[in-house]
Amino acid sequence: MIKRKTTFAILALFLIGSLQAQETEKHLSVIPKPAEMTLKEGDFSLNEETYIFAESDQSRKSADIFNNFLDKLYGIRLPISALEQDRPSIELSVTTDEHDTNESYQLDVDKTHISISGSEKGIFYGLQTSLQLISQTNGTLTLPAVSIKDKPEFGYRGIMLDVGRHFFEVAEIKKMIDLMAYFKFNKMHWHLTEDQGWRLEIKKYPKLTEIGAWRDSTIIGQYWDYDPFIYDGVKHGGFYTQEEAREIVKYAADRMITVIPEIELPGHSSAALAAYPEFGSFKTDGYEPKDGKPLTGSVMAMNEKGEPYDNDLNTAVPGYWGVHPNIYGVKEETFQFLEDILMEVMDIFPSEYIHIGGDEAPKDHWKTSSISQDLIKKENLEDEHELQSYFITRIEKFLNENNRKLIGWDEILEGGLAPNATVMSWRGEKGGIAAAKMNHDVIMTPNSHMYFDHYQAEDKTTEPVAIGGFLPLEKVYHYTPRPEALTADQQTHILGVQANLWTEYIATNNKLEYHLFPRALALAEVAWMGSQRKDYQEFTANRLPKRLAELEQLQVFYRVPEAEVTISTDERSGRHMIAIRPLVKGSNVYYTVDGHKADQTGNLYTGSFFAPITGPEQESLTLRYIVITPEGRQSNEFSSTIQ
Ligand code: ACM
Repeated sequence: MIKRKTTFAILALFLIGSLQAQETEKHLSVIPKPAEMTLKEGDFSLNEETYIFAESDQSRKSADIFNNFLDKLYGIRLPISALEQDRPSIELSVTTDEHDTNESYQLDVDKTHISISGSEKGIFYGLQTSLQLISQTNGTLTLPAVSIKDKPEFGYRGIMLDVGRHFFEVAEIKKMIDLMAYFKFNKMHWHLTEDQGWRLEIKKYPKLTEIGAWRDSTIIGQYWDYDPFIYDGVKHGGFYTQEEAREIVKYAADRMITVIPEIELPGHSSAALAAYPEFGSFKTDGYEPKDGKPLTGSVMAMNEKGEPYDNDLNTAVPGYWGVHPNIYGVKEETFQFLEDILMEVMDIFPSEYIHIGGDEAPKDHWKTSSISQDLIKKENLEDEHELQSYFITRIEKFLNENNRKLIGWDEILEGGLAPNATVMSWRGEKGGIAAAKMNHDVIMTPNSHMYFDHYQAEDKTTEPVAIGGFLPLEKVYHYTPRPEALTADQQTHILGVQANLWTEYIATNNKLEYHLFPRALALAEVAWMGSQRKDYQEFTANRLPKRLAELEQLQVFYRVPEAEVTISTDERSGRHMIAIRPLVKGSNVYYTVDGHKADQTGNLYTGSFFAPITGPEQESLTLRYIVITPEGRQSNEFSSTIQ
């Protein structure tokens, strides 16, 4: 990030700099930024004597969760009481029982008292805000006196985690849920089934996890790196028992997060079909490749031997990425199988929404299957897209009969949208726009702005291997989920926004956190604040640095972001002054301007300095720098060209 400005006198630059520093001290670095904040005089001192007064069971639970974070960050827990006491307190008052919809809260801090009121959800969020207001100076914890009224812009604030490509442990998922709650996310979309792994125990079909949860080997590198693929030879897998899944649902619910399960159909089903091939659609009926070319649904339709992938009965769970051609069949037995699975899923997950995937389902096997073709004729369908629509509509009917709502990826628009479906728009916004125009609800998760598996630097060689793309923090921040192409009425169908963490190239929890943070903090503002109030400059200058330093204390392996580099040119002398501001509070920056690699033997940045060039007509130079955080994490080397 480079900012350029022109000043008429160098002195002015220093003056502005010191005024800015004083201003910053007064900022309350809450992320996402509350809707209304009024700073008052004085502070509240928090210590082990401060008790939390909470009348309801749920708010006592919220207080306990507050204590968990307080303990991790500052090593103390506060006493929680159901009775009012005569000493400094945090008072939680439930003032509405609209628990499902009302997430607003009011938080007032004065010298002797903190009061938080709202629904149970609001109180939970008020407690998160309170945690973020705490400053520690010489061992004393204080919160500034302040009055805050807050509510979110969007009711759906989500993050999707793909556990199909790589399995993550229950403890890792709980850690992610803790962090999501801290930044006021309220939906975890749990992508539980994939070609490469089925991750949820289904009691009626035990082979789904006995066979479907395990693959013998996984490809090394990106899938275009080697032809044929090279495999690591390491068995990978795992699954969640129903008991563990329930535990996660409860853990999330205690933190005001709904877990939305995704059971993919009709495609992305290789692992399920490895276990129960009888529910697949098969190449039958005298199918002959045309011109010697196999019918394949995607560039990736190759098996482990580099041969065209053929949906054989003995297909193993694949260990390579891409769109696989396997697809469920349209037999009655298959619908029964899926409904049985969904019955167990609905029993585990109380979520109103059940996600059924629907994306990237190549229809080749349907094209050549007599069962599929017969059904197309019988139901008077136009083609295989309408057959998919028939498939999804049947599943929707089943879910609706069980008082649940269906969400699917935007491909469910093709061939006709199921009557009550909510669309998750991922191939850009066009699917979402089309669905909202048809009065369907939409969650925006365009791959242009919301794919957190994408790279965080333009120069991919500086980053750990990822799937592709380039999604910097700033781009996430500027995303606005309500497209202008929609009328105000249609925009009400945009329920919210979600980032997706696909895990083909994310095999460890550290790498998961690296992809999530800090981008999830930008997303938190997109989801909570709405576009009018967002200000990237203010976010990075006043609020992000403290939160990132805190993530470090919480042992979160976030990506250390680029610093803000400001180049000021003095009009009279033409001299350039370089200022570097790291985005993690308390960091050191080491830099070079002589072309050498930046490391800790280079110049330690102590304040703005003159560049050894004087004007635009002279040669450029490259500023190279690294950021070292307070806990000693080192960023990648960054560079900026100055001319
Ligand atoms: C998707 O990225 N296939 C939804």
